[in-house]
Amino acid sequence: MSISLINQRWIYVKRPVAEVGTEHYERIEQPVDAQLAEGEVLIANRYISVDPYMRIQQSASPNWEAPHPLNQLQQSGVVGQVLLSNSNQFREGDWVGAYTGWELYSRVHANALTRLDPDMAPVSSALGVLGMPGRTAWFGLMEAGQPNPGETVFVSGASGAVGSLVVQFAKKAGCKVVAFAGSVEKCRWLKTIGADAAINYRQFHKPEHLRDHLIAQSLSVDVYFDNVGGMITDALVPIINRRARIVICGQMSQYNGQLDEVSLGPRFLHHVLYQRATIQGILARDYNHRMDEMVAAVGPWIRDGSLVAEETIVDGFRQLPWYLASLFDRSSHGKLIVRVEDERALDAQPNGTPAKQKRPFALLPALFMNNSRNRPRVSSASG
Ligand SMILES: NC(=O)c1ccc[n+]([C@@H]2O[C@H](COP(=O)([O-])OP(=O)(O)OC[C@H]3O[C@@H](n4cnc5c(N)ncnc54)[C@H](OP(=O)(O)O)[C@@H]3O)[C@@H](O)[C@H]2O)c1
Repeated sequence: MSISLINQRWIYVKRPVAEVGTEHYERIEQPVDAQLAEGEVLIANRYISVDPYMRIQQSASPNWEAPHPLNQLQQSGVVGQVLLSNSNQFREGDWVGAYTGWELYSRVHANALTRLDPDMAPVSSALGVLGMPGRTAWFGLMEAGQPNPGETVFVSGASGAVGSLVVQFAKKAGCKVVAFAGSVEKCRWLKTIGADAAINYRQFHKPEHLRDHLIAQSLSVDVYFDNVGGMITDALVPIINRRARIVICGQMSQYNGQLDEVSLGPRFLHHVLYQRATIQGILARDYNHRMDEMVAAVGPWIRDGSLVAEETIVDGFRQLPWYLASLFDRSSHGKLIVRVEDERALDAQPNGTPAKQKRPFALLPALFMNNSRNRPRVSSASG
C-alpha cells in the first residue's frame, strides 16, 4: 500500500553539561519510507515516555551501556497504533508497545512489538505500572529489598513513577512505609496512597537534621529503596538496622552533571559493615523476561482498584525535551507521559516551553490532563 507521511523526529544533538534542555535537541522532518520489509510494521506513536534514565545516558561516561550517541533519534518507550503491517502478527489499528524514540511514526519489526489490549488496561500503562517503571518497582522491592511484614521500608523519590508504586507494594507486603518527597502537596498525596509517614525532605538542610528527626520518631531502616541518593542517603545509612537491605534504583539528585565528576567515594559505608547490611543495584532490563510474573501479581490490584497507578498525561510532542527537563523540577507525581496530539494541533505548537508558560516549572501542574477515560484510577492531584 502506498502512504505519504512526514515524520517528525527529535534528534539528540548536544551533550548537556548540567541540566538537560531544549538546546540539546533538534526536531527534524523526514518523509516516512513506508516500503515495509517482510515482518515489518509502521506504527503511529500515540504516547511517548520521558524518563530519568535518558539523562544518565547523556553522561559522557559509559553506564550500563555506551552513552546515547549524538545526532540520533532520542530513544524511548512508546505506545502506538499500527498504521501499516507487513506481518501476519499485527493488523491496522492494533495497539502496541515498542522501544523506538521521540518521533511520530516508527518502522519496527513485529518481533520487537508488544501487543496491548485496551480492554485489559489503559494502553498508556505500558509506559508506567505495566511497563518499565512497574517492573523496576516490583522486582527491585520484592527481590532486592525482600520486605518482611512489620519491617520499615524507606522510599526516596516516593512520589515518582517508580517510588509511588514501591510505597504501595511495600504496604501490600505488610510493611510500615516512610516516604520522602519534595513538597507538602506530594507528602499529602503519598499518605492517600498508603504511606505511614511522608516527609518533605526539603525542610531539612543538612542530613543530620533529617536523621535527628527520624531518630526522634524512633524510625530506623530495614529496607531503603533509593531513587534519589545525596542528602537522604547520607541521613539514612547511619540508622540502618541489622541486615538492612539498601536497593539502589536511581540517584536522581546526581544526574544533572554530577555523574561525571570525581566523587569522594561511597559515604558512611562503615555502617553497612556494622549492621551486615546489603547494598544492591537493580536494573529494569534484568527482569524483562519476567514481565508475566509481575503482571500476574500486580494486575489484580489494578483491576480491583487497590493500586493507584498515577499517570500525568500531557499533550506536548513539540515540547518533549522540555518535559524531560521537567522531571528534574519535580512538579508532577506518578508517571509523566507525553501524548501525541493530532497533526493539526502540532502545527499550532512551536518548539520549546508549552504555550503561555512564563515560569514553566512553577505552572506545570496547571497543564496536566487526567487521562480519565481508559484508566484504572487517577488521583485528582495531577489534574
Ligand atoms: N534501575 C532501573 O532500572 C530504573 C528504572 C526506572 C527508574 N529508575 C530510577 O528511579 C528513579 C525514579 O525514576 P522515576 O521514573 O520514578 O522518575 P520520576 O517519576 O521522574 O520521579 C523522580 C522523583 O525524584 C525526585 N527528584 C527529581 N529530581 C531530584 C533531585 N535533584 N533531588 C532529589 N529528588 C529529585 C522527584 O521527587 P521530589 O520532588 O519529591 O523530590 C521525583 O518525584 C530515577 O533515579 C531513575 O533513574 C531506575
